[in-house]
Amino acid sequence: MSQKTLVFLKPDTFENKIVGEVIAEFEKKFNIVSMKMVKLTKEDAKQFYAVHKEKPFYEDLATYASRGPVVALLLEGEKDFIPQVRKFMGATNPPEADKDTIRGKFGSSLDANVVHGSDSPESAAVEIPFFFPEEVSA
Ligand code: RTP
Ligand code: MG
Repeated sequence: MSQKTLVFLKPDTFENKIVGEVIAEFEKKFNIVSMKMVKLTKEDAKQFYAVHKEKPFYEDLATYASRGPVVALLLEGEKDFIPQVRKFMGATNPPEADKDTIRGKFGSSLDANVVHGSDSPESAAVEIPFFFPEEVSA
């Protein structure tokens, strides 16, 4: 059965002019079924990251995610697709990420870690309609 997941390129990809390169990496590896460039407000970012609202980094994360545009990608694949995409992204903190992962190649810090990716089918079911309300969630 096919699975969909939500990835978004964080504002550091615009600041570092690597939007095209990062999209190309996802395009070569996965099937991009929709794509959208959006500027989140801080309130949008807080809503998107509500799962982290008790964490000490919540405010900073929302500020970071709303400091510039992002590009949301809707990806589709087969069974176990979500963990595959997460593996391709690499560890959250770029210095700890394998060098052949997106964060290992392009990331510079815990904030500037290039991409967000849904971490479960349950997260994807909430995160996909956040950026793509016209999609019926997977
Ligand atoms: P993401 O949600 O962005 O795909 O990243 P993730 O699952 O690998 O990491 P998560 O634990 O969900 O954290 C979300 C984002 O918050 C920032 N973060 N800061 N200061 C800190 O200790 C800290 N921990 C996480 C990162 O930008 C992370 O991507
Ligand atoms: Mg996460």
